[in-house]
Amino acid sequence: MSYEAKFRVWRGDDGSGELTDYTVEVNEGEVVLDIIHRLQATQAPDLAVRWNCKAGKCGSCSAEINGMPKLLCMTRMSTFDPDETVTVTPVRTFPVIRDLVTDVSYNYQKAREIPSFDPGDAGPGELRMQQVDVERSQEFRKCIECFLCQNVCHVIRDHEENKEQFAGPRFLMRIGELEMHPADQADRRNIAQDDHGLGFCNITKCCTEVCPEHIKITDNALIPMKERVVGRKYDPVVWLGSKLGIV
Ligand code: FES
Repeated sequence: MSYEAKFRVWRGDDGSGELTDYTVEVNEGEVVLDIIHRLQATQAPDLAVRWNCKAGKCGSCSAEINGMPKLLCMTRMSTFDPDETVTVTPVRTFPVIRDLVTDVSYNYQKAREIPSFDPGDAGPGELRMQQVDVERSQEFRKCIECFLCQNVCHVIRDHEENKEQFAGPRFLMRIGELEMHPADQADRRNIAQDDHGLGFCNITKCCTEVCPEHIKITDNALIPMKERVVGRKYDPVVWLGSKLGIV
């Protein structure tokens, strides 16, 4: 069944912008990205939107739909009432380039700051892992880097000034993945706390709620990292051992 939907799309650039109303055809089975593409094809050829796979795997099409951080390509039109106005705006935490496209280079900068996997002296083929460790890494590696978790995190969403000291849930999860990897030789607890702002996170789980891959970012990465940091800092035996250089 086809119908005419009311769409309200944010149009503008880094200087100014406004919500613009459109009426656009919707067909059965379509997702919001289909409607944005139809808008480009019929009414707004200069509408900027970033996308690539249309399969929920490249993480490019992040936006806010009726105020909720979502992937445009994974949000079905059938989830809205046909009479409802669907409002599409760019993710708010990153600077707008144009229309629905934002500058997410903050995330790439944070990624570059994390020391890479350190296998120590182990050579190729020499690393052995328990299945439980494999599964933990696999969960974290489902991340498609859509940055919806970064977008929704209140530490930086309304506080530009925190971006310098805070890597955000995606990259604290990456540090956690490496810290909990049995073959990684680096100690990443101080890095997480001192360089990447783990202490800013107050485990509201907003990041987990918006993750399209359903990764339990808070429960499986951020809380375990906090426990490790606290253990090092406040356990008197661990503290003494660290001072003596034996822990
Ligand atoms: Fe790739 Fe939406 S276009 S995740």
